[in-house]
Amino acid sequence: MDPTLPSLAGVRRARRDSIELALKRLAGTRDGPEWFPTSEFPTIQVRFMAILPSVLDMIGNTPIVDVSQLSPNPQVRLLAKMEGQNPAGSVKDRIALSMITEAEEDGTITPGCTIIEPSSGNTGIAMAMICRIRGYHLKIVLPGNVSIERRQLLEVYGAEIIDSPGEEGSNGAVRRALELADANPDWVFLYQYGNEANPKAHYRTTGPEIWRDVPGITHFVAGLGTSGTLLGVGSYLKEQNPEVKILAVEPPSGEQVEGLRSLDDGYIPPVFEKWGGFDLLDGKSIVRPRESLEYTRALADAGIFSGISAGAALAGAVKVARRIESGTIVFVVCDYGWKYLSTGAWTLDLDEATANAEKVIYF
Ligand SMILES: Cc1ncc(COP(=O)(O)O)c(C=O)c1O
Repeated sequence: MDPTLPSLAGVRRARRDSIELALKRLAGTRDGPEWFPTSEFPTIQVRFMAILPSVLDMIGNTPIVDVSQLSPNPQVRLLAKMEGQNPAGSVKDRIALSMITEAEEDGTITPGCTIIEPSSGNTGIAMAMICRIRGYHLKIVLPGNVSIERRQLLEVYGAEIIDSPGEEGSNGAVRRALELADANPDWVFLYQYGNEANPKAHYRTTGPEIWRDVPGITHFVAGLGTSGTLLGVGSYLKEQNPEVKILAVEPPSGEQVEGLRSLDDGYIPPVFEKWGGFDLLDGKSIVRPRESLEYTRALADAGIFSGISAGAALAGAVKVARRIESGTIVFVVCDYGWKYLSTGAWTLDLDEATANAEKVIYF
């Protein structure tokens, strides 16, 4: 046996020691199951597995992974918030649960009702999971050019898909859903772009989790779609430390970066205005399709198989890292790569994949 390797007995002892240490720490905490990295064996972590009443209890409390090896500046830490860990696969599980629960509580949603929502994917998939569990009929207005996996996931959970013209993108889906909701007043329209339960979900969960795990955070960087993540997390972090900078990743005006929204294109989501987005945001990073794909591929160097918007967020974070002297940047990995495999984002020549990015809505 290679003498430089620990013996099996040694590894078992290490595990037992770290479990004992974790048990001691657990005795001093109130909140039950948690992660306990140990200083002696930093790569061995102990998780106390609880039996959860429902898959919905898996939403949130996502880990943060240090990917500073991808930082262009040795004085800047880059930390990835891993939202793909949520059970329906994205950050949108949080807002879907928040919007549906709030509407149940205020009586907007009643047993067996029909819900309609425009979504290029993740919100629709998260809502479909929850509606399946809770017995609601869900209709999703989906642009015709989203990746096939998104459609398939909606089908898994039994949502009805209403196609909107691909060339009109997510704005076209929003328009069609608004028309349908208007024509069918008995359908419930939760409208993620205007529903305050969207930023509230991030204010109550994502923001506090980041502050708890990274109290030294200096910058928060996320893609802007509905703006719920940026506003909810941003509001919470600014309350804790007004010096934390909140930065949006946007495509250049008029360009399609995989569904990211440029505020300069004219549509300002109502939640953005209601939550004071223009005052809250400290700036934006403009990221083009090619860079998003390059950085999605770079994330794989750190073992992270992410969706394309995570590449865009990392590209934005890298631009910030180049500009500042030192700091700690948290960026959001909104989802993992499974839903994008058919697009060739990792396998095609970069020029070809970039050209595809103009046709396919990745998120
Ligand atoms: C994969 C992905 N990234 C980023 C975003 C943007 O997040 P938000 O809607 O909170 O601004 C979305 C939402 O559209 C998304 O699905």
